[in-house]
Amino acid sequence: MCGIVGYIGKRDSKDILIEGLKKLEYRGYDSAGIAVFTGNGLEIRKSKGRLAVLEEKLQGEPICGSVGIGHTRWATHGKPSDVNSHPHTDNSSKFSVVHNGIIENYLELREELSIAGHKFVSETDTEVISHLIASVYEGDIVKAVQQAVKRMRGAFALGVLTEYEPDRLVAVRYASPLVIGIGEGENFIGSDIPAILEHTRDVYILNDGEMAILTADHVELLTISGENISKEIFHVDWDLITAEKAGFDHFMLKEIHEQPKAYRDTMMGRISEDGKSITLKEIGMTAEQIRGIQKVHIVACGTAYHAGLVGKTIIEQLARIPVETDVASEYRYRNPIITEDTLVIVVSQSGETADTLAALREAKRNGARVMAITNVVGSSVAREADDVITTWAGPEIAVASTKAYTSQLIAFYLVGLYFAQTLGTRDEQYIGEVTTALLQLPEQVEALLEQAPVLKLIADSIVKHNSLFFIGRGLDFAVAQEGSLKLKEISYIHSEAYAAGELKHGTLALVEDGTPVIALVTQEELAEKTLSNIKEVKARGAHVLGVTNHSNHEEVAKSVDEVFSIPNTLALLTPALSVVPLQLLSYYASLALGHDVDKPRNLAKSVTVE
Ligand code: F6R
Repeated sequence: MCGIVGYIGKRDSKDILIEGLKKLEYRGYDSAGIAVFTGNGLEIRKSKGRLAVLEEKLQGEPICGSVGIGHTRWATHGKPSDVNSHPHTDNSSKFSVVHNGIIENYLELREELSIAGHKFVSETDTEVISHLIASVYEGDIVKAVQQAVKRMRGAFALGVLTEYEPDRLVAVRYASPLVIGIGEGENFIGSDIPAILEHTRDVYILNDGEMAILTADHVELLTISGENISKEIFHVDWDLITAEKAGFDHFMLKEIHEQPKAYRDTMMGRISEDGKSITLKEIGMTAEQIRGIQKVHIVACGTAYHAGLVGKTIIEQLARIPVETDVASEYRYRNPIITEDTLVIVVSQSGETADTLAALREAKRNGARVMAITNVVGSSVAREADDVITTWAGPEIAVASTKAYTSQLIAFYLVGLYFAQTLGTRDEQYIGEVTTALLQLPEQVEALLEQAPVLKLIADSIVKHNSLFFIGRGLDFAVAQEGSLKLKEISYIHSEAYAAGELKHGTLALVEDGTPVIALVTQEELAEKTLSNIKEVKARGAHVLGVTNHSNHEEVAKSVDEVFSIPNTLALLTPALSVVPLQLLSYYASLALGHDVDKPRNLAKSVTVE
């Protein structure tokens, strides 16, 4: 996820671009840049770091002109660096491109263009776009962009300038957001409404496969195949803060709703078209090395640790390699048995968590190979690991992790399947069944999100209590632990997650009349056992909310006070669905209690101290 802006008009574009980028920093902030038409042609200033670094650079090397594009980056291909920052250009420096998205076939295109003599300076997929456009340009930038995008697979929102046609700015949208702002004698592009809201409230919201050609006085809308289209102007009446949250009240709610996209982006380009194989180019291990793995240690903190608990079952079930999951702050002090045939998987949204980083270093010191699952390209964890699986969830702003957790689950499914296909522990048909179910998850989450009002009502009743329990068995227990953490951290209501069968060994003493218990019953094979545990708490007066799947609904409904059902999927994949109602429940509980949902007390987004 990155942010793009563009301006064409009569004012100096630099400040408009920088101000627009400031409003988009929540979409990414590891580097930034602008390209502006000046008296010297198309000039670019860009740098690694937050926007302030670029602003400082612009003071030393000012540029001035009334047409420009800008970008704030959240690295996907290539670490954050000056050279990987956008805008990108071609060898003639006559074309300039800003891009938000991922070009899946960029390596193939890069190879083809290299053979034709193009020289690449960055590691990005975006640089390929500027070269591709330059290679097909024959005097009409619109036609060149249309031809280029026909060759591109993936997701992209683009802003394109060429020195040959300095009075036109071309914008394209395909599976990444883009809006066009309509001004008087000036027009704008932006990844999101906040980028342009200061200048205009009239926008066109582009759909996938649409493009806009902007001049200072006019906006023409076309499809990428060249047909003219007309669109109603959308008049924005939100304030800026609401616009930054895309109309949601909080970043957490926005991020919960971004999960279908995060699932799709994390799977994109990693599942073959026939669904029968997994490609993880990021894994540098040979088949021989994968066969040599004797055990896996998953190490992480907090929510990422909870993803690791699910990861353990995924890898053990799919690849039949023994897995231990550890809390990072405990791992390195327990003198773990790490050998050269141990694969250590560290999981970290930020890639900067001190304990996780220390565990990674401990693993490397002991000769283990380290794989990182992280959301931040170029983070410390990503730099120091041997193999890096990026979760393409985009920046997570709310302190309580939601979309990062679920995209970590998706990453584990992909890694588990990749190992299974390499080791031959699962055949093509089975892999096909899992990928089919994986690809259905985004739509199933969308359906779940529509049930939010029901969860709000349940949350309103939960907040009257000081303490509650989450119970479940197997994968349900792993998800219960994440549900309990989510509730605690943002609602400040005490809760505990218990393996359903363990309650009677002590904790059951705490259950009394009215104690709320949230019971997860999604694992067919374990359902009967969990139902017995539900009876135990019910007999002590507990008020039970059952979270189950559609196929178990009736059976569970008989034993609980309230029931919430999730769509059916394979047992192994249920965590990617069952956690969503728990996230929403926590959100609404925090809201009902009037807490600061996005910034809960005592907590920080990235914990860089031990
Ligand atoms: C809880 C939460 C934390 C983080 C933990 C690890 O919602 O976000 O528990 O999961 O601090 O952070 P990362 O994943 O950045 O290493």
